[in-house]
Amino acid sequence: MLNSEEKPHPHLVKVFCKGMLTARGRKRGIPYFDMEALHLDSSAFFRWHKSAPGQIFESMEHLFSGLAYIHSRGIVHADIKPCNLLIGSDNILKICDFGLALDFTKISDDMCHKLVTLPYRAPELLKHYDDKLHRHEYQKQLKLYHKQINGKIDVWAAGCTILEWVTGEIFLNGMFEVRQGMEIIQLRDQRGRVKIKVEPFQRKKFKDIKKVLSQCLTIDPGKRPTAENILSTLEMIKKEGREQRIAHGLQGQKPNVLVV
Ligand SMILES: Nc1ncnc2c1ncn2[C@@H]1O[C@H](COP(=O)(O)OP(=O)(O)OP(=O)(O)O)[C@@H](O)[C@H]1O
Ligand SMILES: [Mg+2]
Repeated sequence: MLNSEEKPHPHLVKVFCKGMLTARGRKRGIPYFDMEALHLDSSAFFRWHKSAPGQIFESMEHLFSGLAYIHSRGIVHADIKPCNLLIGSDNILKICDFGLALDFTKISDDMCHKLVTLPYRAPELLKHYDDKLHRHEYQKQLKLYHKQINGKIDVWAAGCTILEWVTGEIFLNGMFEVRQGMEIIQLRDQRGRVKIKVEPFQRKKFKDIKKVLSQCLTIDPGKRPTAENILSTLEMIKKEGREQRIAHGLQGQKPNVLVV
């Protein structure tokens, strides 16, 4: 089990024990996991906290730290979305619901449509084609990205999740797989990333978060950064912020944009 060792990862929900509940007279049992209980799921948390950029930045660090850890063990979560990320009363984010998690070498084409809830599903997983729509240019374009599937599917889902923390709304909501692919291709910019043209991101205080998000929403998985790369980018942003505050003689003051 991923997080039941003596030193559990700080950003994965702690599992104390697991087992099977069996009723007398029944052959098959029901599996159970005894876990730590957390305060709120992340969508409820950010509704409550009115999407404060400092808190979002901190939660991003927690999320990518947890993802980098599971990916380093060859596992993809495959269901990253706001309600599978829990936040405790100490504001620490933890990843939960490993019901779809699997070894990424075991992912085959026929299981792609079962991985990740549709609005958070990466383009390389959208392999279902409607024959009548097959001639559409966007489908040919999407096919270019059907490369090896790995932890980058969680990075895409994390990008969609963070966007939802900021806006309070699902970003790419195609309703069915073909439509989802179409929305992604229609929003593609010249760099092959999804355009983020939603209102809060026009504000300066979301500049750094937007920069990281657009990297997560790179359509080509080969060019999309890993969770480990994103973690380094977040560290760099924090360091630059600290240096700027020192240069302006503000080192003792709390930053008004990011929690650093
Ligand atoms: N350890 C926990 N502490 C507090 N709340 C939790 C915990 N685990 C799960 N929850 C809550 O219960 C909800 C459902 O749990 P979980 O995601 O494991 O089930 P699920 O049936 O796989 O749901 P879904 O299909 O929507 O992902 C979570 O979204 C979360 O709000
Ligand atoms: Mg869940």
